[in-house]
Amino acid sequence: MSRRAAPEPNTAARLPVRFAALVVDWQRTHGRNSLPWQNTRDPYRVWLSEIMLQQTQVATVVDYFTRFIERFPDVRALAAAELDEVLGLWSGLGYYSRARNLHRCAREVVALHGGEFPGNAVALQTLPGIGRSTAAAIASFCFGERVAILDGNVKRVLARVLAYGEDLALASAERKLWEHAQALLPRHGVPGAMPRYTQGLMDLGATVCLARNPACLLCPVRGLCAAQRGGHPENYPVKTRKLKRSSQSLWLLRARAADGSVWLEKRPASGVWGGLHCLPVFESREALRNALPPRARGRLRDDAPFVHVLTHKDLHLHPVAAQLSGNAMQDRQGAWFASDDWPRLGLPAPIRRLLEQAPAR
Ligand code: ADE
Repeated sequence: MSRRAAPEPNTAARLPVRFAALVVDWQRTHGRNSLPWQNTRDPYRVWLSEIMLQQTQVATVVDYFTRFIERFPDVRALAAAELDEVLGLWSGLGYYSRARNLHRCAREVVALHGGEFPGNAVALQTLPGIGRSTAAAIASFCFGERVAILDGNVKRVLARVLAYGEDLALASAERKLWEHAQALLPRHGVPGAMPRYTQGLMDLGATVCLARNPACLLCPVRGLCAAQRGGHPENYPVKTRKLKRSSQSLWLLRARAADGSVWLEKRPASGVWGGLHCLPVFESREALRNALPPRARGRLRDDAPFVHVLTHKDLHLHPVAAQLSGNAMQDRQGAWFASDDWPRLGLPAPIRRLLEQAPAR
């Protein structure tokens, strides 16, 4: 079997202006055009959706976005809310630092910018939680600014089109890809083309230029794609450094009072589940046991442990149930919460699932 040589890479300078035009035309007919955060140039809505979409699929974001907009129709309403309420509405989306930054950002927009989001990508990037790509997405969608995005999906699309073989684990390689991304932007009819081009790259990455089985036959830029020419588009992008995963075991005290309420505590602002309400968390079963008054220590029940996967870490969670009197937890910072309270609390998803399972005996 003959092996194909590595493809001759494109450079952004060699790719014709046609690249942007093809993406724009394709987006108009084949892209996503009726999501709840589209067909608006309101930076508040676009910002909110972009933050939600950073680590979460579109299908999941739709309902959260709709609920957020109903409760907080503008940035002033969000800034005026308590963080706990924001975390409560965010509950289940994960990556809660996004929700904390969202709230901080809303407050900064009100306090420092009179309630109006800054009108360009450079200024947007000064706000909490808005990185370079998110700032560019907002500026391109809302203001038609000629500025490049480069999220994970777009890296894949551009790395393939360019047959960009440098290792994106290296900051220098990533920096160069940003330069290519900027050079590929539309040059004609920029204010109108930019929103569609930006959305087009996102849509191509999400629906056609897939990580494992790219649907090259459906791709509007296959004729320009150096990786497709080389026969192995799935070899791009190149990234050597693997996420270093760790694992941790935690014991969760599932303390229940006679009336069925459950003891919850607020997590420290940083670290796993920062700022959320949670069952008391311990690093060992012994530490959990020692946190209880001696009279309660004999009445513990170990429930089935389970694994919860975070980005960098597998959490091995060991729930331990205890039926306690109302004052057994009085030395700790927390409160008893009835099941009616749980829906409005910011709870980590595995804790919510645990609480919603059949109550402890
Ligand atoms: N992912 C990030 N931003 C997006 C958007 N505006 N539409 C769809 N998916 C996205």
